[in-house]
Amino acid sequence: MPEKNDLDDATAPYSGPRAVDPGEPEPRLEDDPDYVTRTRFLSLIALAGGVAMTAAIVVPVVGFAVAPTLEPEPPRWVDVGPLKDFPDGETTSIAVAGPATESDRRVFIRRRDDELIPIWNRCAHLGCPVAYSPGGDVFACPCHGGAYNSRGLVTAGPPARPLDRLDYKIVTPDGKDVALGDAKDEDRLLIGVAYSIDEDEQSFTLRGPGESVTGVLRNLYPSPGA
Ligand code: FES
Repeated sequence: MPEKNDLDDATAPYSGPRAVDPGEPEPRLEDDPDYVTRTRFLSLIALAGGVAMTAAIVVPVVGFAVAPTLEPEPPRWVDVGPLKDFPDGETTSIAVAGPATESDRRVFIRRRDDELIPIWNRCAHLGCPVAYSPGGDVFACPCHGGAYNSRGLVTAGPPARPLDRLDYKIVTPDGKDVALGDAKDEDRLLIGVAYSIDEDEQSFTLRGPGESVTGVLRNLYPSPGA
């Protein structure tokens, strides 16, 4: 009697070939968000370079525009003497120590027609000291031919703006503020911080030599309201 074959036994466990489950496909490196391809690497380098170049241009421009507004001169007053030392109808030259960070400076006190204007002798071109000519009632710069009228407005040469001015106030001997029209000879003239003006004599935060207060950059510099 032949031996019973397992194939004939429907209850025997299957031992033939089996279907293989393909499962999930092998992950590709390109699909890994943390994987940096050469193209992506070069793109990052180009982006970083663009950001650096933009910062190199923008940061100095913003700093140049903002710095003058962030570093105003300290609000101090310097007593330059009694009002009788500055006769009406004349422009008087005096030396003033301070109050700005710039050391000693020469200031021309222009007093005319109930108006007093302290004018700084620093040329608005490159900073040479200007001289006052009483005969022509003008200011002249010896360095590059800059010329200004009696109010310090540019009449010739390379200066980009008028001569800078300084705040002033007049106080009585006991320290009370008094208007120029009501002041007496013994009242004292005090000189304050310097500021720049444009050709319309509107005031702006003090600029350095060669800097303009007009044009596109004008909008970047707020007026101090002086
Ligand atoms: S510094 Fe005065 S004109 Fe140049």
